[in-house]
Amino acid sequence: MSQSISIDTNPGLRRDLIVVAFFQNESIRSYFAKLIRSSEVNAQQDLEIPNYAIQFEYSGTLENAADRLSHHLGSRDDIAAILISDSLVRQIPARGDAAWELVPTAKVIRDKFAQKLYVSVAVLQQSVRIPNRISNIDLVLRSDCTAPAWLDALKLLTARLSYLARPEKCPRPKGIEVRSVQSQTELYEAFRLRYAVYKVMGYLDEEIEKSGANLELHWCDTIALHFGAFLPRGNGTELVGTSRLITTSGPYPYDTWTKFIARAHPQLRLLFKNQQAAFAPWRLPIFHTMELNKYIRKVFLRGEIAGELSRVIVREGWRGTGLSSELVNVAIAKADACGVHYMFLECLEIHEEYYNKFGFTALGRAGEVVGIGKTMIGMGRTAKAKETPFPLEALV
Ligand SMILES: CC(C)(COP(=O)(O)OP(=O)(O)OC[C@H]1O[C@@H](n2cnc3c(N)ncnc32)[C@H](O)[C@@H]1OP(=O)(O)O)[C@@H](O)C(=O)NCCC(=O)NCCS
Repeated sequence: MSQSISIDTNPGLRRDLIVVAFFQNESIRSYFAKLIRSSEVNAQQDLEIPNYAIQFEYSGTLENAADRLSHHLGSRDDIAAILISDSLVRQIPARGDAAWELVPTAKVIRDKFAQKLYVSVAVLQQSVRIPNRISNIDLVLRSDCTAPAWLDALKLLTARLSYLARPEKCPRPKGIEVRSVQSQTELYEAFRLRYAVYKVMGYLDEEIEKSGANLELHWCDTIALHFGAFLPRGNGTELVGTSRLITTSGPYPYDTWTKFIARAHPQLRLLFKNQQAAFAPWRLPIFHTMELNKYIRKVFLRGEIAGELSRVIVREGWRGTGLSSELVNVAIAKADACGVHYMFLECLEIHEEYYNKFGFTALGRAGEVVGIGKTMIGMGRTAKAKETPFPLEALV
């Protein structure tokens, strides 16, 4: 968190944000209390995060912090919360680098607020080697975090909370077109937009983030169909939204463009090759994450076609206009046209209700998405037009 980040925000909305803090260690507690109260932080906070009214609360135990979160998050749907603590994670024995995991109470808290506007920050003693990320923790901070690093953390987390929140309704932009990506340049723009939004969401693969290419690109993009929401701009267009449909059976018209873009970036070449080795046998990322064994067998032995919807993204300034529904619907229509029997997706629990609208239902499976460090749930949808021999639930 050393670099300053630039994030789109929606200036129209002002949301209440409660920051619940629990620090076991007395010196970390007083350090953060001073940092948060400092005039440098306060002045910049109002200036840089004008769309949140932020209140801080200190708790005496992690259990008490959980109660305070329940109190706030249970009282209203539009309130957002951050839990910050030096007691959320513990080190576990691992080969090579130290590994970290949530302590049992932190796991309970995560599960309890998975459908709420909630994010977490783990503070670690500066004496330990600070990992870039810890599974199911939104951000990791050093116990001697500076005022600019704290402000960057707040900016990133509030932007993430805004993206998780239901948007304000806005009119559909004039002249917008939701359609397939039609050129290598448009595909490149899609990878750039995906990078920008996934950075805020904390969905970037660690290797992609380290690559410095500023493109969110995966080998699975070679076996996917790509869609975008395009606004007219001068003689060209501006991409403001994306969606992607991976299928287990071709044709794969984006294969060459994706490989060309990946190969043009030396930082991505090796990563791309490794992804191919890991994902080509599975094809769909959800098959890699979750044990859908009965169904996977049907796909590979009986030749049924499966699809996976992902990268449903709308740039902040264009949210609330219904574009995401169009981007999902265009992918569903394409899946139906391609003869996809079952369509899957992986998402945060908070998005379950959103995808219910399109006929997806939870599979009762969850798994940690490789490279991202977030637990997501699996959802599925049976093609309307198809005679499917079994209900989806019988397949997983
Ligand atoms: C998820 C995302 C694509 C939604 O786009 P959006 O522009 O905010 O939403 P839309 O205007 O298209 O909304 C369509 C409908 O979904 C609802 N909706 C949107 N976000 C929602 C949310 N977080 N929770 C519940 N409902 C939501 C809207 O209220 C609207 O409902 P309506 O049809 O009843 O009017 C956008 O927030 C985004 O890009 N998020 C970051 C990337 C991400 O997490 N994508 C999902 C990956 S699984």
